[in-house]
Amino acid sequence: MKTLFVNACVRPESRTLKLAKHVLAKLDGEVQEVNLEKENIQPLNLDTLMQRDALLKEKNYDAEMLKYAKQFAAADTVVIAAPFWDLSFPAMLKNYIEAVTVNGITFTYSEEGFPVSLNNIKKVIYVTTAGGPTTGMDYGCEYITGICQKLYGIPEVKCYKAEMLDVIGFDADEILAKVMEEIDLTM
Ligand SMILES: Cc1cc2nc3c(=O)[nH]c(=O)nc-3n(C[C@H](O)[C@H](O)[C@H](O)COP(=O)(O)O)c2cc1C
Repeated sequence: MKTLFVNACVRPESRTLKLAKHVLAKLDGEVQEVNLEKENIQPLNLDTLMQRDALLKEKNYDAEMLKYAKQFAAADTVVIAAPFWDLSFPAMLKNYIEAVTVNGITFTYSEEGFPVSLNNIKKVIYVTTAGGPTTGMDYGCEYITGICQKLYGIPEVKCYKAEMLDVIGFDADEILAKVMEEIDLTM
């Protein structure tokens, strides 16, 4: 089994990273990490969009700019870890999603215009932690679940989150430990 770990945890003392490590320890096989803080992937702009369109038109999938999409599409399981920022996640994760959402590698469209999966991924596990409550406004989990299931056609998407970690009177370590206990990867 090949697991891809997409690490969007910014702070060195990240609680989200602790949770992600707990998840990764429960998985068998090889783990490849993409550390988004180190990769510094830029958002698509006119220039890079035109370059990418030209490559895809020629079916030239060897270019450097398509490496993230190919790596993503080849994984069996993807673990994504991102703190809850501004009701979703850090922009570096959105940049990564732009880099992997490639028509012809991750997915394509049927003649009727519906998305068709081209990737190998069976399961996505999304891990996040939040300073306050997230009920009714967890656009991070919602967005990741939506794009993985509806566009990439990935059958199983699971979200794990620890919330209220920055609220006075709440014990962050205790909350994290409880969420870790509840993690069950047998879906
Ligand atoms: C830039 C930024 C934005 C944040 N936005 C939110 C937010 O919208 N809602 C919330 O409950 N907490 C928010 N927080 C608090 C984090 O979600 C919380 O501290 C989280 O546990 C950080 O994860 P980490 O320990 O992995 O860095 C924000 C923190 C930062 C630094």
